[in-house]
Amino acid sequence: MAASGGVVRGAMASEPLARAVAEEVVRWGSMKQTGVSLRYMMEFGSRPTPRNLLLSAQFLQRELPIRIARRALELESLPFGLSNKPAILKVRDWYLDSFRDIRYFPEVRNRNDELAFTEMIKMVKVRHNNVVPTMALGVQQLKHHLCRARNIPFGFDEIHEFLDRFYMSRIGIRMLIGQHVALHDPEPEPGVIGLINTKLSPVQVAQAASEDARAICLREYGSAPDINIYGDPNFTFPYVALHLHLMLFELVKNSLRAVQERYMNSDKDVPPVRIIVADGEEDVTIKVSDEGGGIARSGLPKIFTYLYTTAKNPPDLDGPNEGATMAGYGFGLPISRLYAQYFGGDLQIISMEGYGMVILHLVDSYSVSTN
Ligand SMILES: Nc1ncnc2c1ncn2[C@@H]1O[C@H](COP(=O)(O)OP(=O)(O)O)[C@@H](O)[C@H]1O
Ligand SMILES: [Mg+2]
Repeated sequence: MAASGGVVRGAMASEPLARAVAEEVVRWGSMKQTGVSLRYMMEFGSRPTPRNLLLSAQFLQRELPIRIARRALELESLPFGLSNKPAILKVRDWYLDSFRDIRYFPEVRNRNDELAFTEMIKMVKVRHNNVVPTMALGVQQLKHHLCRARNIPFGFDEIHEFLDRFYMSRIGIRMLIGQHVALHDPEPEPGVIGLINTKLSPVQVAQAASEDARAICLREYGSAPDINIYGDPNFTFPYVALHLHLMLFELVKNSLRAVQERYMNSDKDVPPVRIIVADGEEDVTIKVSDEGGGIARSGLPKIFTYLYTTAKNPPDLDGPNEGATMAGYGFGLPISRLYAQYFGGDLQIISMEGYGMVILHLVDSYSVSTN
């Protein structure tokens, strides 16, 4: 189908149009996606000339529809009838809308096209802001349904594997869009290339994430344990600040909650949460530990499954606001692990009697290739 110019608006505006779009989604969803390494993004992004930005937009105009179409197709073929849950249908429509917006955008040929394209993909990114909690709502709807029907969710693993793939793909798409948009910053801070900070101080990020997590804890409980951060504040490495902030924010919230709940009604001194940043030759390791009691042995195998939570009052999933709640969605740990893995790192949990500890390995991102 030739790009006829203009963005096609309104889901399923007419039957033949809907069919044509569906065929395009299948066609693009079967194309091979192209991985982009962080090293490449850094090298390419260090020269954000108008010509390079044009090349980048042209690459995205071809690459994004492939990635988005694949996810839309997958959303339509989930087991246990998950695809028909209203929340999942909503997410699928976001993917279809974004596919249309990008696929039917006029071919990007010059600087003006490039700027308009950039504005459009910025909107696409915003449209998908609440994908994670909305997906969680859909899975929760399914879980309730299956439990009521006493249908033991045999094969539920398939859903976890799908969600891992789906969220990982989302991280990649948002990284590509975010990087392209950020390269338009006319006055980037020294050492910053798009979303990548070539001189990121993990201690500084830990401080910022701790403050944010404590603020939420204060709001929730009226008090918050102290957080002590150990490590060289001058140590830096190349990484995406947003990603590191998100992971530490989730981990620290978990620790604060564990300590808070354990000491809330006791007159003992509240032990601080500790964050230790260790800079090695090849990777950066960050340990978050607390004396909040650790994770129950019975809970450990489930810790990385979506929706595992011991929070009593799950937040209102109808008006979700990613990350703004203390606990309850149950995806803080699995999502944080995906962010760590995205650049070749990992997240491990060690639970000892009385202690909770999470270890975050962050590989020096310069050497890692990713999708
Ligand atoms: N530091 C910790 N100490 C004790 N339990 C923890 C800790 N971190 C996580 N957990 C347990 O793991 C569960 C899942 O954590 P998470 O994925 O962040 O979801 P949520 O915080 O929304 O419950 C928590 O509900 C809690 O039971
Ligand atoms: Mg959490």
